[in-house]
Amino acid sequence: MNDIVEYSFDGTNIYHQDCVDPIESVGWESKGCFYFEHIWDFIDVPDDGGIVQVGCTFGCSLQILYNKFGDRVWGIDPFNPLKHPRIIEQKIQNVDDYPLAFVHCDAGDFRDTPALRRDALEWSVSNLVPGGVCLTAGHNKRVDDLLGFEMADYAKDYYCSCEPIPDALKALTPKKFTESDCIITKW
Ligand SMILES: C[S@@+](CC[C@H](N)C(=O)[O-])C[C@H]1O[C@@H](n2cnc3c(N)ncnc32)[C@H](O)[C@@H]1O
Repeated sequence: MNDIVEYSFDGTNIYHQDCVDPIESVGWESKGCFYFEHIWDFIDVPDDGGIVQVGCTFGCSLQILYNKFGDRVWGIDPFNPLKHPRIIEQKIQNVDDYPLAFVHCDAGDFRDTPALRRDALEWSVSNLVPGGVCLTAGHNKRVDDLLGFEMADYAKDYYCSCEPIPDALKALTPKKFTESDCIITKW
């Protein structure tokens, strides 16, 4: 099934249905690119299972994942304007379960589309293999209030732990997005 959504770009922002992404948050200086260049010194990823990004926009950060993990990598997004070959053009709500070693859960936005983010989280966290890791927003009062639950409790329900981004990883960027994010690991 092909789930293409309507979008437009005004030179500064990309508008996809209910959410707005500033262009700098989805290009080569995005947080996804930062994490996929640096996070591997701070987490272990199991040898078996997919390496997946839910919410990929142009596929810039997905390409960094692909450069490291090759054919284990794919992305899920109904929006794929540059036709990145590893992006499956579907809404996460329509994607079958798949065992995950690593997932970046970044569909929509926890502010504008919390229900979508909850759907993406459920798919991401419930599909982790033992030792698998989910990188996402949460474990932070502002994000947890918008999502409607405490991320640490949510993680526990799926037999996972939830930790903030390590200080040594935060120290590698002056940007503040690391304060909103967390690392969920399946026991
Ligand atoms: C914050 S952006 C992702 C940025 C991306 N991770 C990066 O590093 O450039 C959110 C993305 O979620 C996507 N999205 C919207 N609805 C979705 C859905 N139902 N399933 C999966 N992705 C969706 C949007 O098309 C958009 O590309």
